[in-house]
Amino acid sequence: MDKPVLPRIYLSPPHMSGEELEFVKHAFASNWIAPLGPQVDAFEAEMAEYVGVSHAAALASGTAGIHLALRLLDVQPGDEVLCSTLTFSATANPVLYEHAQPVFIDCGAASWNIDPALLREELDACARRGRLPRAVIIVDLYGEPADYHEIEKSCSHYEVPTIQDAAEALGATYGGRRAGAHGQIGVLSFNGNKIITTSGGGMLVSDNEELIKRAHFLAAQARDPAPHYQHSCLGFNYRMSNVLAAIGRAQLRVLPERIAARRRNFEFYFQRLAAVPGIEFMPRQTHGSGNHWLTCITIDPSEFGATREEVRLMLEAHNIEARPVWKPLHMQPVFAGYRVRGGERSTAVFERGLCLPSGSNLSRADLERISTLILAARQSVAATAL
Ligand SMILES: Cc1ncc(COP(=O)(O)O)c(C=O)c1O
Repeated sequence: MDKPVLPRIYLSPPHMSGEELEFVKHAFASNWIAPLGPQVDAFEAEMAEYVGVSHAAALASGTAGIHLALRLLDVQPGDEVLCSTLTFSATANPVLYEHAQPVFIDCGAASWNIDPALLREELDACARRGRLPRAVIIVDLYGEPADYHEIEKSCSHYEVPTIQDAAEALGATYGGRRAGAHGQIGVLSFNGNKIITTSGGGMLVSDNEELIKRAHFLAAQARDPAPHYQHSCLGFNYRMSNVLAAIGRAQLRVLPERIAARRRNFEFYFQRLAAVPGIEFMPRQTHGSGNHWLTCITIDPSEFGATREEVRLMLEAHNIEARPVWKPLHMQPVFAGYRVRGGERSTAVFERGLCLPSGSNLSRADLERISTLILAARQSVAATAL
């Protein structure tokens, strides 16, 4: 008889609280089955309050948010936009949508986020060339906040605005402020794999009312105030559905529990694996606290006895999804030829980095099984090599 296959453990699956359907019922009862309505207005207000900013614009995705943010900061074709290299492609794809030029900056020695010293070097070099970037996109990777103190010093010195790509970091804090509240404008994502989800969705958050007003305008096809349909500039259909905003409102209510559950995952893995030779955990920020969206490790095969890929494939053979850390953007064919400052550190993180299953609905038994399998990987690989 075949062995029964255990249910798949996903990297970061959606986690409904049960309240979502009640909120969706309200959306249906009001018949606002449209990309606007009372649920969208309430979700924006509640999220702005949570993040600690005064304005928000709910959108179809985080990627739409980054695209609009570039428009709001008047990024023009040919302009340079500085951006972390160790991130998901959605951080920089919108730079290419605008025919602008991404310039990639490596992560730090003690952080997987943008290195503030390299960022400063690049800004200094841009200033010497007489061509400052139009914007800098800062990512809070895997929910861990970047070093905003140093970053903001450099960017404000050159008066270059920043976009905070907090797609992975909702609920993280730095210097007493929540992710999304740093920089001129913050971007959130509610994609299905994020700490809370609307299935797909995103939001722009900012204290700048004018920017958010313009985001609403551009996201709704840039329709001029006229009785007929008139458009003086290019618009987008980037709004969030009222039905999805209803899901988001219920999810936001359980966000503190979701953060706590993901922190428990991290603590469990840390306790089991931190002392194992060859395993290191993603460095943590000392001026704030992450939301522990994903727990990530690096594996040094010469010390651990198995490579990252061997561990990942072994977990996959047990129906467990783990993923390599993001492939840095300077290594991606789609971004070939764009400038990069540094790059070796993020390349090394990519070669050894593994994101462990981190869902807020993981059970202790799941965590136990995953950790035991990881530890067994080095023995089984050592045994096969004999
Ligand atoms: C760092 C980062 N930026 C941007 C995005 C884009 O968000 P979305 O999937 O909502 O478009 C994501 C996730 O998908 C992300 O991880």
